[in-house]
Order: sequence, then C-alpha cells, then structure tokens
Amino acid sequence: MIFEQISTGGCQSYLVGCDETHSAVLIDPAQQQVDHYLGLAARGGLRIRYLIDTHTHADHFSASRELSEQLGATVVMHRLSPAPFADLRLEDGEILRVGAMRIQARHTPGHTLDSMCLLVEDRVFTGDTLLIGGTGRTDLPTGDASALFDSLFNVVLKLEPETKVFPAHDYKGQSSSTIAAEIETNPRLQARDRSQFVTMMQHLNLSAPTHLTEALRTNMSGGKTISHLLSEAAAMISFVSMKELEERIAKGVLEFILLDVREKDAYESGHVPGAMHLPRGQLELRVNTDLPDPTRRILVVCEVGYISTLAAATLRGLGYAHATALDGGMKAWREGKLPITTGATP
Ligand SMILES: [Fe+2]
Repeated sequence: MIFEQISTGGCQSYLVGCDETHSAVLIDPAQQQVDHYLGLAARGGLRIRYLIDTHTHADHFSASRELSEQLGATVVMHRLSPAPFADLRLEDGEILRVGAMRIQARHTPGHTLDSMCLLVEDRVFTGDTLLIGGTGRTDLPTGDASALFDSLFNVVLKLEPETKVFPAHDYKGQSSSTIAAEIETNPRLQARDRSQFVTMMQHLNLSAPTHLTEALRTNMSGGKTISHLLSEAAAMISFVSMKELEERIAKGVLEFILLDVREKDAYESGHVPGAMHLPRGQLELRVNTDLPDPTRRILVVCEVGYISTLAAATLRGLGYAHATALDGGMKAWREGKLPITTGATP
C-alpha cells in the first residue's frame, strides 16, 4: 500500500494507493492542500480515482468537488450524505476496488448521520467517529450520541485489536493509534454504558467550530468558500503596490483611472487624490457610462483589498483588459499616512 498522511492544522487527510497499479484514493481532502495532493500524486506516479469524504465536515472545507472537476475522479460519500455532488453513495459494507486494493465502508452514524469508517488492509480511517484519545462531537447538525455509542462499541471497537486507527482529526501531533490502545486508554471509551456515554457527550460544552456555517454551506452544497472565490478573482488580475501608487501621485503621473469602489460615505470621508467613485454594487450598471474606454488602465481601490479584487476581476470579465487592483486598501493607506482627499467626486 502507498500511504501519505497530510495534516492541515488538526485536520488529517490521506492519500492511499495500490502499489501494483498506482491507482489511489484521497480521504477527506481539504481545500488548502489541493496543490499538495496533486504534487504528492504526481511524485508517486499515482492516479487518484476516488475522493472520499468520511462525512459532511463542519470544520473544514472539503476539496472533493474541486478535485473531481480537475481529475475526473469520483466523489464518494455515504448514502445519507446531503451533498448533491457525490457521484457514488455507499451503503454499509460496500467495497470500492482500487487496483488490487479493497476499501470497505462501514456506516458509523453518531458524529453525523452520514459518517462512515473505511477499512483498508491493516488499518481503519475512522473519520470523526473515533479520534485518538477522543471521539467526534455529537452536538452539531445530525449528531446523535446514542448512535455514536452503537457505532463505536458495536462496529469500530469490534475490529481486530491490532488494526491501525487513522482519524480525520488530531490536534496533538499523534499520527495514528490502534483499536487496542484506544480501548485501553481513550477516556471517552471508558463509559461503557449507553446512558453514561450519552450523558458525557451531552455535557462536553464545546464551542462551535470556526467557519461552521460556511463549512456546512459549502460542503453540503458544493458551493465555493469566500477565500476560494477571492483566490479565483486574484488569479484573473494583476496588482499595483501602494508604494507605486504613492510615487505616481507624488510625481503627478497617475496614468490610471483610479476607481474607488467603496460606499459613498466611506469615499467622501477620505479617498486617494484623483480617485473616481463607483460603488461595487453599481459597477455593472454604470460601466458603460462611467468607463467608456475599455483600453484604459484602471486601478481599483477598496477598504481592505478584497472587494477591489472582485471588482477588478469583474471588470476584466467585462472586457477591461487592463483592470488591476491595489495590493492593499484604504485602511492601510490611511495607516501609512499617505495623501487623502475628502468630499464628493470632483
Ligand atoms: Fe467532522
């Protein structure tokens, strides 16, 4: 078996390949690691056939959909997954053949209704059902402590004691464990009575994961994250540094149409000298009248640099081939004590 464990903060993902055929699967891929996965697969001569999410993640952004578009690979989830982009939905016990390797799915609801563990040779990928020294939480959407009790004690912990455990999360730098070690030392597994276990899980008082609503929105719908949207826009345009803009203003040779896309109040309370005002919300409606020459260089400015990136990408899409954005924004411009003019558009 070819095996790579990739950590992103506390999130763990796995590239697992057949060493005879070099077919591979990616388990729980995260968006920040897309280039890393592709690099690892290329270096190992692997073809990724399946992208498997062990469950609907509430705390990281799944890269399955994006990678499936790039690689033509099949997105695999449990039958009960709400994600509309899953191509193949597994039932308990079903097997994927990946070259000579067999991956068996076990339905292990509890952390979420669609959680599954994946058995491959000497190891089990436990998702958030069983963690090293812990278990997945059961207080997020579709979580169920009683179901987790059954999944742990009647399925996962019945695996061979020497089975290696690879979870979807580990925050303590431990890369793996075994079923025997978890039975022995995992504090959550010491409550062997269902009601005791359920009471313990209901009183953990955990704080909500960061990006909970965004992670659920994107992982359940296949929609984009905000940072994905911004990086796509940034890849379509070029940027001008604040230093260059400052120097051009000092020399009086701007050569750009400087376009401030913030709201009216923000613009009037202080803008770069010579900047024209066209709020982002009215951009598409007013370009034909306000920016009649699509061959001009345009430099878009906003408060922190995100909206200007989106606006410059929109302008490129509308045919303004020389639209760029400021690498920074008015917040940094003010903090740098750079020249500012107040009042309405001249
Ligand atoms: Fe999770």
